[in-house]
Amino acid sequence: MSIESTKIAVNSTDSYEMKKTIRVAVTGAAGNIGYALLWRIASGDCFGKNQPVILQLLEIPVGMQRLDGVIMELNDSAFPLVHGIVGTDDPHIAFKEAEAIFLVGSRPRTKDMDRSDLVAANGPIFVGQGKAIDAVASRNVKVITVGNPCNTNALIACANAPSIPTRQFTAMTRLDQNRAVGQIAEHAGVPASKIQDLFIWGNHANTMYPDPRFATVDGKLVTELFDDEWLQGPFLDTVATRGKAIIVARGASSAASAASAAIDHMHDWWQGSNGLMVSMALPSEGWYGVPEGLVFSFPCRCEDGNVIVVDDLPLDAFAQSKIDENVGVLLEERNAVSELL
Ligand code: NAD
Ligand code: LMR
Repeated sequence: MSIESTKIAVNSTDSYEMKKTIRVAVTGAAGNIGYALLWRIASGDCFGKNQPVILQLLEIPVGMQRLDGVIMELNDSAFPLVHGIVGTDDPHIAFKEAEAIFLVGSRPRTKDMDRSDLVAANGPIFVGQGKAIDAVASRNVKVITVGNPCNTNALIACANAPSIPTRQFTAMTRLDQNRAVGQIAEHAGVPASKIQDLFIWGNHANTMYPDPRFATVDGKLVTELFDDEWLQGPFLDTVATRGKAIIVARGASSAASAASAAIDHMHDWWQGSNGLMVSMALPSEGWYGVPEGLVFSFPCRCEDGNVIVVDDLPLDAFAQSKIDENVGVLLEERNAVSELL
């Protein structure tokens, strides 16, 4: 099933010189994250105000009617940068020639679950989608995996797309980074924009490590403003368990903040991180002793459309123990899905 809708730009875009239109795919497009994400992509927040897009939206058959409504609303928003919308339940149509893919579609957890409990339900989705990416996406495609457990789902998609370089598959830990920034900003009494170089190691799970050692608040080291007791205690715990806290409070998993983080991740990958360190999970090439292939969040800089892992930061005993802990958890997840790889 496929719904096609071609949009004609109706608003003025005259102050920008337009680039060649790109195809952007979003899975789970009729879901909660999709509903927040699509409007940010369509408005130019991700790929730039001079980058027209064709949106290629994937749902499962039961989601197609809701997707139809989402497409009507996108059309009704009259975004000048949206040069076409395709809604489909066929990944080969959704991913065709896509330059950027947001893998969101999958089940969220409930408050009684850990994210890794989703692997049996969600893991198989990323086998077929990986194969379809391999078959039809642009050879330069940039893939962000949001659906949980996102590190291991990215690993599954990557393993099933052998013709696409592994560095083009990533998983999202930017929400964790943003949560860490939010906590520091609140405690320092400054806007989030004052905080730089705060990043996440490891898995998008309770074991993650928001590393404060290189982070600054208005140029001052975070470690000079806050002591280890807070940084390795309440700060770390709040960031690591924030997903569950939101599910308990909202009765649904984070959606607007997740969409915003997905925009930040892809924005920086596409347009650069201005020399700053940001968090991205990608298949390890042995950095910091993390076994090759494990999708692990590292400090990264983005430049010219490439992700460069910052591979020479010193580790202290606490950081090393957190990295080891995350490697252990991700190895267990990888073993659990070995038949999908
Ligand atoms: P949702 O249930 O509101 O929407 C998911 C959508 O995906 C639904 O419309 C569903 O029909 C669709 N879908 C299911 N299987 C699909 C498939 N095979 N192909 C295409 N579409 C499919 O859920 P949501 O709140 O949008 O969350 C989506 C995922 O993102 C969940 O797994 C959630 O845990 C995860 N998540 C990750 C992060 C992160 O930081 N990495 C943050 C928030 C949520
Ligand atoms: C989050 O961190 O908010 C998401 O991964 C949803 C969840 O299950 O915690």
